[in-house]
Amino acid sequence: MEKKKVYITRKIPNIGIELLKKHFHVEINPEDRPLTKEEIMEKVVDKDAVLTQLTDVIDDEVLEKAQKKTKIFANYAVGFNNIDIDAATKRGIQITNTPDVLTDTTAELAWALLFSVARRVVEGHKYIKEGKWQVFSPNLLLGQDIYGKTLGVIGAGRIGKAFAKKSLGFDMKILYHNRKRDEEFEKELNAKWVDKDTILKEADFISIHVPLTKETRYMIGERELKLMKRNAILINTARGPVVDEKALVKALKEGEIWGAGLDVFENEPEVEEELLELDNVVLTPHIGSASKETREKMAKLAAENIIAVLSGKEAITPVNR
Ligand code: DGY
Repeated sequence: MEKKKVYITRKIPNIGIELLKKHFHVEINPEDRPLTKEEIMEKVVDKDAVLTQLTDVIDDEVLEKAQKKTKIFANYAVGFNNIDIDAATKRGIQITNTPDVLTDTTAELAWALLFSVARRVVEGHKYIKEGKWQVFSPNLLLGQDIYGKTLGVIGAGRIGKAFAKKSLGFDMKILYHNRKRDEEFEKELNAKWVDKDTILKEADFISIHVPLTKETRYMIGERELKLMKRNAILINTARGPVVDEKALVKALKEGEIWGAGLDVFENEPEVEEELLELDNVVLTPHIGSASKETREKMAKLAAENIIAVLSGKEAITPVNR
């Protein structure tokens, strides 16, 4: 019997590829760049499964092409805003993602950004590299303490909760906002559910952990930034369009807030020119889940989803059913 065909839109860790090769005929985009939508449409027509990246636009047009044969699109990310889920469901195509395995890794990056901004780590690094450091100075690069402050978590799903949990040891007050209250989480961390505006007004450090949806697009704009404290630091490791980047630049330039740590951007890989010029921001190129161990786990999980679905079993981490 002819082997089923799987297409992988970008090279992923070998563990996932080897797993798929045991069962299927596997084709991988040989180039180190995302495919265009047209290229994806060409590739999906004769594939039983496709392993996609968050940069791949899987809209109804792509799904229509895929529908004759493709049973599953396994997204190599926990987020799936690149895929039209309703259209996939209507066309009977399974979508999966890679939750859980990247939770702590992404939460760690949010902390890395928070520490970097609050304690001006990148500015210090630059200062030394540029040969500016002459001698210890009592007033050089004064930052903010993290311990004892108020942490605001917007979106307390898996990653938001893991982020909050990592504050244990820093004696912080935790405020969180989520559609649903989570009493267990509240008890465990002495966290308090409040509305979004209260977080914005009261938290010293705010970290965003919501998915990108119609409702969360531009959730943080001019109004919200104005509500924040002047010493506030905003961290975004979720999705860029959740924050109005132009409004953020303005708030950072005018000192409405202290700083920002951003791993995601409105129009990746483009970054607002002015953000690049500001010292009170730390920017990373969407590397929230980018540890060697986690990327291997994501590759394995995406492959296992494909194996399950192509052998007639339930997907392990389905987005739709
Ligand atoms: C995700 O998983 O959604 C991250 O943004 C990328 O790993």
